[in-house]
Amino acid sequence: MTSTDLYRDHLAALDRWLADSLERAGRRGVSLDGVLFHAGRERTYHADDNAIAFWSTPHFRRWCPIAGPEHIVLARPGGRVQVVRVRPMDFWFDTSMPPASYWESVVDLSEAESFEKAAESLGSLERIAYVGDAPEAAQAVGIDADRIEPAELMAPLDWYRAYKTPWEVALTEVAVRRAASGHLAGLEMFRAGATEREIHWAFLEGSDQIEREVPFNTIVALEEKGAVLHYERKRGPEAAPGRTLLLDAGASFEGYASDLTRTWVGEGADPVFKELVEGVDALEQELVAMVAPGVPYPDIHQAAHRGVAQILQRTGVVKVSADEAMERGLTRHFFPHGVGHHLGIQVHDVGGHQAGPDGGEVAPPAEYPLLRTTRPLEAGHLVTIEPGIYFNPVLLDPVRGSDDASAIDWAVVDCLRPFGGVRIEDDVLCTENGARDLSREHLPGPRE
Ligand code: GLY
Ligand code: MN
Ligand code: MN
Repeated sequence: MTSTDLYRDHLAALDRWLADSLERAGRRGVSLDGVLFHAGRERTYHADDNAIAFWSTPHFRRWCPIAGPEHIVLARPGGRVQVVRVRPMDFWFDTSMPPASYWESVVDLSEAESFEKAAESLGSLERIAYVGDAPEAAQAVGIDADRIEPAELMAPLDWYRAYKTPWEVALTEVAVRRAASGHLAGLEMFRAGATEREIHWAFLEGSDQIEREVPFNTIVALEEKGAVLHYERKRGPEAAPGRTLLLDAGASFEGYASDLTRTWVGEGADPVFKELVEGVDALEQELVAMVAPGVPYPDIHQAAHRGVAQILQRTGVVKVSADEAMERGLTRHFFPHGVGHHLGIQVHDVGGHQAGPDGGEVAPPAEYPLLRTTRPLEAGHLVTIEPGIYFNPVLLDPVRGSDDASAIDWAVVDCLRPFGGVRIEDDVLCTENGARDLSREHLPGPRE
């Protein structure tokens, strides 16, 4: 299938979901004929003329792969999608015509110099909702406040974001391959004794990205910093070479993100830490294999905790049985985050806690409040699977004085603490036939 065919089919699926979303909104008293999706407005930092790196609003991006601010998609079910590309004639910026692209023949594409002129060119916007980040822009073109991102419309639109079309999967696969190449480049630098900064640069180069293209700040953590879940600093020679590396980094392609983590063990690391890494890798693959239609995502999270309990028991970190560690919730001191999340245009994609297309919320279980998705998996869902074990002082220090202290072997913890933590993360598509791991074939695990 060509890219144009994939994109045409993608728009056909969006058209069906849009029709259903408008119908649902209508049943709840919000009558609409269509939606104007706005790419969004560039903003500056407070009291500054320096622009914040621009990211298109996600719903716009789902309809149209043009980058940059202000563009419009106008979609009415059953009609051809209208795209107005906004090209301001402004000498500060590049105003040249972008090269023709595969998607353009599938839509009605026109151009305008501003959002206002673009909106004007589309005729009446009565009974059209606005989805975007600039309500003031919507009101300026005659869209009243009650048609700006009405909740009755946003709930189904968000809900359907979880179902990825083959076009979205194809874009994600490019993002995955790029990130995998970056990870391999980073690994080579780690093996050569590089600093966190150098490993970060190697990742950027290997994934063919400039800084502002990465979908989230890279986490390049040597040794003890691997325990810091969102460690974003990049140290220099003072912290290199490292004996362990936790690299969590992704790439973006036409708006779609990948999100991969590997933990690597080098010379001089404690063999028990290597055992932990290999244990988490094996566990991760078992969890990936659980991905299938109908499986409640919290079941995978629960299985991750059971696996973590076994690894902690096997490596001597806990002195009680795996069952007792699980019952007492000891795993939460070492594995504090959710086992993963929906992945898409947003790295932590929307709709994970939604009860259904009309909204409502299924909160995570009380003992796992950070679990980002409580939805049962369905074919087309794309999620990460990312169990981990960390020796994080903020989590562990309070435990030393608690009732749980006697169940933990602190001498083992203290030996492992300098190596930080382990996380292994892959991007996994739920298909009718079960899991399709999009990343393993491009990025091996630490046991391979
Ligand atoms: N990189 C952020 C995450 O894994 O969720
Ligand atoms: Mn993730
Ligand atoms: Mn990640």
